[in-house]
Amino acid sequence: MKNIQLLNKIAPCGTDLFDKAEYAVEETIENPDAIMVRSAVMHEMEFGTNLKAIARAGAGVNNIPLDRCAEQGIVVFNTPGANANAVKELAVCALMLASRDIVGGIEWANSLVGTENIAKQVEKGKSKFGGVEITGKTLGIIGLGAIGGMLANAAESLGMNVIGCDPYLSVEAAWNINSNVKRVATFEDVFKNSDYISVHVPATAETKGFLNEKSFGIMKDGVRILNLARADLVNTDDLKAALESGKVASYVTDFPTEETVGVKGIVAIPHLGASTEEAEDNCAVMAAKELIDYLENGNIKNSVNYPAVSAPRNRANRVCVLHADADGIFSTLTTLFKGDFVTKSRGNVAYTIVDTDEPNNDAVAKAAALDGVYKVNVI
Ligand code: MLT
Repeated sequence: MKNIQLLNKIAPCGTDLFDKAEYAVEETIENPDAIMVRSAVMHEMEFGTNLKAIARAGAGVNNIPLDRCAEQGIVVFNTPGANANAVKELAVCALMLASRDIVGGIEWANSLVGTENIAKQVEKGKSKFGGVEITGKTLGIIGLGAIGGMLANAAESLGMNVIGCDPYLSVEAAWNINSNVKRVATFEDVFKNSDYISVHVPATAETKGFLNEKSFGIMKDGVRILNLARADLVNTDDLKAALESGKVASYVTDFPTEETVGVKGIVAIPHLGASTEEAEDNCAVMAAKELIDYLENGNIKNSVNYPAVSAPRNRANRVCVLHADADGIFSTLTTLFKGDFVTKSRGNVAYTIVDTDEPNNDAVAKAAALDGVYKVNVI
């Protein structure tokens, strides 16, 4: 029996994929084999010796200690693209929220409850809540992955000129982007030329606070900024100063903080990007399938800390070795086991699968004891 711990609520259409005869799937479980998580912060968690994998039902993985997991032989998965349409739809809504004071207008209309002749008052008072249109304006997108690419296409079809920058754009992602979307070389090109800027990059040490005084300084006056990616991408003090000076006309974020709620010019949405029934189902199903294929076959797809490795099973036993990408480990493994080997590295870590006819407990123990070997799973 394998144990799956749910750190957050995960849609049943995903958890139901675990065969009940083989898996226990619960919120409180000691020393699980795998964890499914949405936004629970795992940085301070101690991981049990059985833990082999963590699946994040979502794209962002800044709530998970990726390097520590890699060094403990724990594969971390995410679900790229599974909630992209939901986030794209909210980003289209955010374009409108950034353009007109829809939120202020609705709040004002609701405040008229109980007063007389509301229709007349509305016509008289509405001019405070006007705005601008998006058609013909330039939207600059930073990060053209699943969400950024879909937003680019949607905004183009709404009549915007769309430019985008993504130093890591994959060929597959590029194929899905409308040819009218112009690729620019640098973030600076986006900053200089956009009326609207939408960011779709992960929160990492490199991207933390990259929207700051310097980048606002390069932008057009009255730029409107959308951030449905992560709060950390923006330096909040610099943003507030830019809103006050009028440099930034509005900022729509899906990540409210103590510093950003209730601030004039900021529309703070309570992280609703992926909160649609469809996205929750898609993420849960993808995350569960990733865990099942890893726990049952050792195949890795959509990991953020180990290389992608999938191999058909040809022999009775599969030995999966998670190790440092260091000299000598792979060649030592080839002396310990007889069989078919597949190995791949990513950064400092590597993953080796050995399909073998004999379950060789002695070799497994020796492999596990090697310096630089983090974990050995026998399937
Ligand atoms: C993501 O990282 O996929 C989105 O922010 C939505 C979520 O956190 O669930």
